[in-house]
Amino acid sequence: MTEPDGAVPAPREKKRIVLGVGGGIAAYKACEVLRGLTESGHEVRVVPTEAALRFVGAATFEALSGNPVHTGVFEDVPEVEHVRIGREADLVLVVPATADLLARAAHGNADDLLTATLLTASCPVMFAPAMHTEMWEHAATKANVALLRSRGSVVTEPASGRLTGKDTGKGRLAEPAEIVAMAKLLLARPDALPYDLAGKRVVVSAGGTREPLDPVRWLGNRSSGKQGYALAQVAAARGAQVTLVNAHTAALPEPAGAELVQVRTAAELHEAMRDAARVADVVVMAAAVADFRPESAADHKIKKSEKEPDAVRLIRNPDVLAELVSARTKGQVIVGFAAETGDEFGDVLTHARAKLKRKGCDLLVVNAVGEGGAFEGDDNQGWLLSADGLETPVPRGSKAALAAAVWDAVAMTAVS
Ligand code: CTP
Repeated sequence: MTEPDGAVPAPREKKRIVLGVGGGIAAYKACEVLRGLTESGHEVRVVPTEAALRFVGAATFEALSGNPVHTGVFEDVPEVEHVRIGREADLVLVVPATADLLARAAHGNADDLLTATLLTASCPVMFAPAMHTEMWEHAATKANVALLRSRGSVVTEPASGRLTGKDTGKGRLAEPAEIVAMAKLLLARPDALPYDLAGKRVVVSAGGTREPLDPVRWLGNRSSGKQGYALAQVAAARGAQVTLVNAHTAALPEPAGAELVQVRTAAELHEAMRDAARVADVVVMAAAVADFRPESAADHKIKKSEKEPDAVRLIRNPDVLAELVSARTKGQVIVGFAAETGDEFGDVLTHARAKLKRKGCDLLVVNAVGEGGAFEGDDNQGWLLSADGLETPVPRGSKAALAAAVWDAVAMTAVS
């Protein structure tokens, strides 16, 4: 299958974002988040803590945002900034959210401009945490995060990897590009990240498989993996335990909180999906899996010679989705993807309905190939078809927005 299409960007609307910056080493990455938001056309007001300014100077935030930077409630008093900034915001985003800042937010402190802003904001609030593993796993932090989530704030999972010193572990700030994508999703759909997948195990496949011809060549496809990554990111932000079975993709930020299993060929993807699906509540096949592979791959580079090359004989790969459906465990929800074109036998939806029946999955995400689109685009649109006959159009929007629509449909399927 092919990656869902979509090159025409969704219309942009200028929104007001407050970027709170906590006092941790990852504060320097907030500059990249700030850049991503302003380049998307949004107005950003940076509100750092005093401690954040020990890592990044106010001048940097002022220059990048084009707005003044204050930390306390006694600056610009006639403007009553500590109330106005929060009230007027469309989104408050805290990057990095340190253990201390999460604690102060959870307890309703208002001892600086950022915490006062958090108390006056009626818009969506998202925290992207970064701290040492011990701090993230401490019972106090866990309780603070649970409290904030129960009040409707989004607290995304930190990534695993290199921390400040030589140590590695969970607690690293999510990639700035991922934070920007989740922030834009909340601006487009404030209700897109409920914490409704907590305790669910989900497995998502992404990218395109490559079937080797020889040690340096393969048969592949144009899938960028962006839609599969967006599904993994949104699921993790909604509380799921995510395994991402990753074939070949464009250079994409690794989704924070997801376990990555790297595969190359359809056969490897087949095995990885079978293993991961055994314990999964939800399986999503967003990968573009090659239907055929060369019967044999040469063990040496095929050299150019005077005579015409031999024809490459192709043999069939397993249909992973269909096999997962026949091995499905009780209550498991299975989602397939289909990129379709109309032809003399029917339009896109006619083909998609037939595919949904043939594959036997619970939901099918359908994209019309060629409607304004390159496969590698950041936007997408389509329909969600469910086995019980429901057909929901998904308007053009980001791949994260389509992912959120898929998880909404999964949540409904799991309940009904
Ligand atoms: N798929 C799969 N294994 C394959 C091929 C496809 O699991 N060997 C999955 C894809 O990940 C996708 C769904 O099946 O979720 C539909 O893929 P698509 O290529 O549209 O389906 P095909 O069965 O190959 O049908 P077509 O005849 O349209 O190519």
